[in-house]
Amino acid sequence: MSEREATLIPGDGIGPEITQATLSALAALGMTFDWDEQFGGMAAVENAGTPLPNATLDSIRRTRLCLKGPLTTPVGGGYRSVNVALRQEFDLYANVRPTKTIVPGGRYEHVDLVIIRENTEGLYVGLDHTFKIGADRRAMAQAMSIVTREGSERIAQYAFEYAKLHGRKKVTIVHKANILKATSGLFLEVARRVAEQYAGVIASDDKIVDNTAMQLVIRPEQFDVIVTTNLFGDILSDEAAGLIGGLGLAPGANIGTHAAIFEPVHGSAPDIAGKGIANPSAQMLAAAMMLDHVGELAAARRLRCAIEAAIVQDKVRTPDLGGRATTADFAHAVVQRIRA
Ligand code: NAI
Ligand code: MG
Repeated sequence: MSEREATLIPGDGIGPEITQATLSALAALGMTFDWDEQFGGMAAVENAGTPLPNATLDSIRRTRLCLKGPLTTPVGGGYRSVNVALRQEFDLYANVRPTKTIVPGGRYEHVDLVIIRENTEGLYVGLDHTFKIGADRRAMAQAMSIVTREGSERIAQYAFEYAKLHGRKKVTIVHKANILKATSGLFLEVARRVAEQYAGVIASDDKIVDNTAMQLVIRPEQFDVIVTTNLFGDILSDEAAGLIGGLGLAPGANIGTHAAIFEPVHGSAPDIAGKGIANPSAQMLAAAMMLDHVGELAAARRLRCAIEAAIVQDKVRTPDLGGRATTADFAHAVVQRIRA
């Protein structure tokens, strides 16, 4: 596979530093993609006058594969989120966020779950309005949630296929069908039907979302793969990341039929940018997900093992994990582990 073409967007703030570290780990694995480097976010505004240049879109359209660093989005005004624009442009319908305990001695020791969130429907379709009554221009507000059979089917199918491919045992369908009988009810009905196709291969159960939120805090080890609609997935995946502590450890993938974009969950961290102390683990773990996606499962496993060994056994830890290592120190430790 060693020369598969892929788009690389190093990103803003700490993006270039953690991307550099990630490329050195990939090189040690012998996984050298043929990178087409493109701009996005603030770097693109400075270089091309727009946060999402056509050249970047064209590149992803061609390669269908992208490793992306964090992109700065101005708060209150300015251009809209490039991340949201990319998700819409390429119909990246599955948001995949694995959460796994790495650093021992935290709040939970055995978390190892993956949340698969429907990324295009539900309450995020943008049908959110206010209404005027009498003199009050914003007397009432209404949001519309769109759930389709097709959209539910493809995300459920994705979740069960993901479970099969990654040796997972169980998929939990998370919903609120007791109250939202139409929307959440349709999602549950469709997902259960998909689950039947995997009977005897992947176990399945379903849980109401509020109970799921509580169970995640009480006994997160009981979860394996969770599949759910957009809003529930947004909230639960942040909750899950909080269980293991440390933004520097959380990767994510946005997967569509025609393209896939891999990224760290965290932002551009302007407070530490340029200091060489950012934790590159999330970006490296995003690269591991990218390797999984192209079928390089063994290389992905080697990369994850090397990251864990550097943190846990070698105790090479950046300041966010309580250590004093630099980004380069950590990258070096991971490369050593890969070569060992
Ligand atoms: P942030 O995630 O950039 O930073 C939050 C805190 O976590 C900061 O103290 C930062 O130093 C720390 N942190 C984050 N990643 C770290 C790492 N790898 N190693 C060590 N420490 C790390 O969130 P913030 O400050 O709210 O956002 C900054 C910018 O990033 C904004 O413009 C925001 O819009 C953008 N952003 C972009 C995302 C993306 O491109 N997917 C996601 C989230 C935010
Ligand atoms: Mg969110």
